[in-house]
Amino acid sequence: MRKLLPLIGTPSGSHPGGRSAMTCRFRCGDACFHEVPNTSSNEYVGDVIAGALSRRSMMRAAAVVTVAAAGAGAVGVAGAPSAQAAPVAGRGHGGGHGKPSKSRGARGLRFTPVAPNTDDVVTVPEGYRQDVVIRWGEPILRGAPAFDPEKQTAEAQAGQFGYNNDFLALLPLRGEHGRQVLVANHEYTDEVLMFRGYDPDNPTREQVEIAWAAHGLSAVVVEEERGSGKLTPVTRHRLNRRVTATTEFRLTGPAAGSDLVKTSADRSGRKVLGTLNNCSGGTTPWGTTLHGEENFNQYFANSSRATDKRYGIGTGATERKWERFDKRFDVAREPNEVHRFGYVVELDPYDPESTPRKHTLLGRFKHEAATVRLTHDGRPVVYTGDDERFDYFYKFVGSKRMRHGNSRWAREHNLSLLDEGTLYVAKLSGDSPAIEIDGTGKLPRDGEFDGSGRWIPLVTATEDGAVSHVDGMSAEEVCVFTRLAGDKVGATKMDRPEDIEPSPTTGKVYVALTNNSNRGKAGYAGPDEANPRNSNKHGHVLELTERWNRADATAFAWSLFLVAGDPEDPATYFAGFPKDRVSPISCPDNVAFDDHGNLWLSTDGNALGTHDGLFGVATKGDRRGELKQFLTVPNGAETCGPLIQDRRVLVAVQHPGEIDGASVEEPASTWPDGPGTLVRPAVVAVWRADGRDIGV
Ligand code: FEO
Ligand code: CA
Ligand code: CA
Repeated sequence: MRKLLPLIGTPSGSHPGGRSAMTCRFRCGDACFHEVPNTSSNEYVGDVIAGALSRRSMMRAAAVVTVAAAGAGAVGVAGAPSAQAAPVAGRGHGGGHGKPSKSRGARGLRFTPVAPNTDDVVTVPEGYRQDVVIRWGEPILRGAPAFDPEKQTAEAQAGQFGYNNDFLALLPLRGEHGRQVLVANHEYTDEVLMFRGYDPDNPTREQVEIAWAAHGLSAVVVEEERGSGKLTPVTRHRLNRRVTATTEFRLTGPAAGSDLVKTSADRSGRKVLGTLNNCSGGTTPWGTTLHGEENFNQYFANSSRATDKRYGIGTGATERKWERFDKRFDVAREPNEVHRFGYVVELDPYDPESTPRKHTLLGRFKHEAATVRLTHDGRPVVYTGDDERFDYFYKFVGSKRMRHGNSRWAREHNLSLLDEGTLYVAKLSGDSPAIEIDGTGKLPRDGEFDGSGRWIPLVTATEDGAVSHVDGMSAEEVCVFTRLAGDKVGATKMDRPEDIEPSPTTGKVYVALTNNSNRGKAGYAGPDEANPRNSNKHGHVLELTERWNRADATAFAWSLFLVAGDPEDPATYFAGFPKDRVSPISCPDNVAFDDHGNLWLSTDGNALGTHDGLFGVATKGDRRGELKQFLTVPNGAETCGPLIQDRRVLVAVQHPGEIDGASVEEPASTWPDGPGTLVRPAVVAVWRADGRDIGV
């Protein structure tokens, strides 16, 4: 057996961050190796305002502390399945850095940080326990067989938990004590790690159809174990559901029914089969879930149109060759099918018979997530980022109020909330002179990367129809070619806007910007105050304050809350907190809040050479900026879907073992079930051994 690679996080060649070439190939169709799709001349111009000097005396921590070597052996769940019942990971880690804070930390974050490491396990803090909730292939529907890696079929997969779990939601289940509905995204498939002897040049129809069934969403009821945080799937529950690449969806909003989305199989332009590359998402206050279709471009072959180029849709065959098995994936033969992907989709997990929807009013781009809050008068606001280097982030403000209650009348009304309102794109200005933003990450003289911004309207839909706010584009065109609309209005080119989350306690909004290796390179946009580092390997987190703290505001203030990396690196910033007392972090991706108001960040592609993980950071009080690592994930994996409940943390361990050269025959990870078993993406729950709340 091939020797396992010790460090997957190690930046390999020119791959951005620490992701393997294999992840780039299967996850986003090698997006970072293709030309940046945003070649618009739309440039950020920082406001040349001589900022008030030393608004805050910015500390530049002189003390630099060495990151502790990841020597302390974590003990993980890898091993016999019985080991899962009593995992002991995290034992013995005394903190992630040389001088861990002696104080106990902000409420909700009082745990001993996990040290950065490259262990093929999930490592959690001392005193915490973990277990797998559900793995790829576990049966969830009536009649679905147990997972057998050697006997996979499309029919079996359609009743089993899908591959590569990303976004997670847990919804309450009234009348069934101790049970909740878990909803998960299945972003993409990695056929090399799924099928023994997979030939990428000649995939079989069965393999392709298994992949279709392994994409999409799962809803599965889970039951709490009394006295612990453990969750167990309730197989065959009436609410359990699989949505796949062939499930029927209803297209809604201004583009529904337009010529741009009509195909030979759907002359109405309203009925779409399937959802693809669902990355992160959101849970609505009306009890549904939203799921962002992200790198949908990689599934479509043979395009030569300029509009498709802006979305990174290729001119040749695709990696998975689906176009050989269904012509809708061949743009040359079915030109409009690709216009029916790249949306935010909505699922009603309480009605397994319902037809899920694709909301065109929220725009078409590589949606990372879709996070919902309500305005003061009960209208929905959705934040959503376009995960591409030099692309934009957006806000939707609805015009209809949410109805309370669980009646069919209320639920039907609420399912239409995202079809009327206005979609905006963000334009940011810095408040420091442009000359002070030199691309190194050095703070400007006013001590902060900060400024103001505006939400620029793109399209408004009412019950009487939709109007475009973009010259030369119709409302339908804005909804289908939203990136081009953003180009035209001069939106700010960001460093891969990923997940966005408003704080439930302060109303401030946090935007994860994962990285951008091309920032400042010849031919690309240079640094600006909101994206201040050239060749930005480690990413940053932007904090946005809506004017008057109103969710429907059209103006905002912003500042960079974190500039990620090794705290020893002078080009990092942790909201002003002393940098010798924080964990290193790289490539923030998904964000979540706990009820204490702490921000939790999971990472994708740690460019510091250690595994991805989950971190908590205080956003207010005198510990604001104190970032602590809570867990790490196994070889090749990305940490996704964080959910922070009072007594439980849930993460989706996505693409474990996805390391260049790995295959079923030569695995690079044995997680979660140990040697001799197939590596499987899975959802993990973490709780305190003493049964108390997380981090108190
Ligand atoms: Fe699917 Fe942008 O991560
Ligand atoms: Ca400034
Ligand atoms: Ca992500």
